[in-house]
Amino acid sequence: MDKQILIQIAISLVAGNKGLLAMDESNGTCNKRFAALGIPQTEAYRRDWRELIATTPGLGKYISGAILFAETIHQKKKDGTLIVNEIITDGIVPGIKVDTGAKPMAGFPGEKITEGLDGLRERLNEYYKMGARFAKWRAVIAIGNGNPTRACIEANANALARYAALCQEAGLVPVVEPEVLMEGDHDLQRCFDITDQVLLTVFDQLYLQNVLLEGILLKPNMVMPGLQCKQRASVNEVADATIQCLLQSVPAAVGGIAFLSGGQSGEMASAHLNAMHVRHWSKLLWPVTFSFARAIQQPAMSIWRGEGNNKHEAQQGLYHRAKCDDAARRGEYTSAMEKA
Ligand code: G3H
Repeated sequence: MDKQILIQIAISLVAGNKGLLAMDESNGTCNKRFAALGIPQTEAYRRDWRELIATTPGLGKYISGAILFAETIHQKKKDGTLIVNEIITDGIVPGIKVDTGAKPMAGFPGEKITEGLDGLRERLNEYYKMGARFAKWRAVIAIGNGNPTRACIEANANALARYAALCQEAGLVPVVEPEVLMEGDHDLQRCFDITDQVLLTVFDQLYLQNVLLEGILLKPNMVMPGLQCKQRASVNEVADATIQCLLQSVPAAVGGIAFLSGGQSGEMASAHLNAMHVRHWSKLLWPVTFSFARAIQQPAMSIWRGEGNNKHEAQQGLYHRAKCDDAARRGEYTSAMEKA
């Protein structure tokens, strides 16, 4: 492990006002998104969608790194060249999702443990040779019915830390994603408390596993009330709670924070990220950016709908969301940008 190289990769991923684009949906998740829009759920359509993203002109202006799914890193464009090469040509660092999914946790109804440690060292070495310089592992923590349990939080935190250590050994920056889910009727405070507990546990495990904090990126959820909670929170309340939570649970040494969107609309995710910078810029201990999947892709996918004729307009939609998120990192995003 070359610490300086890892740190340089982490710095490059959060440099300027850029952020990450997560385009690493598993086949099952991607198919689910396609089904909702009436798009055929085949490898060819997944390839077309990922090719559409990778060939969006100028995306590298706002996107520093793209997280790919295993299928995509091996996939070729229609012209026979690799999708990953298109990404690299645009100045975007390729990353790879390496967990194999969140599975029901034995003995803990309603909770999940993320799998994928078996054979991970070999897979990481292979992905490094293919050009990947960072990786992602997502753990999910659900709130409700007495959950989450300490067992679930600790098991997931341990897996995240072991994954992170293996990534650094292989020369890849680990994106550490412990996602507290938005589903549920819990309020803002409950999300705050659970997110805080999860992050403290994750950093305890990262420390135990000798992970270099300067050479990781944290991908957390924003602190928000559950989707079914009647008491909604304002944009400023979400921004304040999120930053307060991170300040008390994330060490200053961490290379950067890159939020997931968790099912928020593109506009809402941009507005929250923007408010964090407007209201808390001088207090932030780390670069704070985005690593959105749905909040960048969804509007564009709704335009595309699997039709080649819609490709150009869909790429414009994708570019627009990335541009809005770049502005949000500067605290310069406004709703007027949506009309433009
Ligand atoms: O693992 C989840 C993705 O990387 C982020 O997806 O922005 O749609 O929550 P999301």
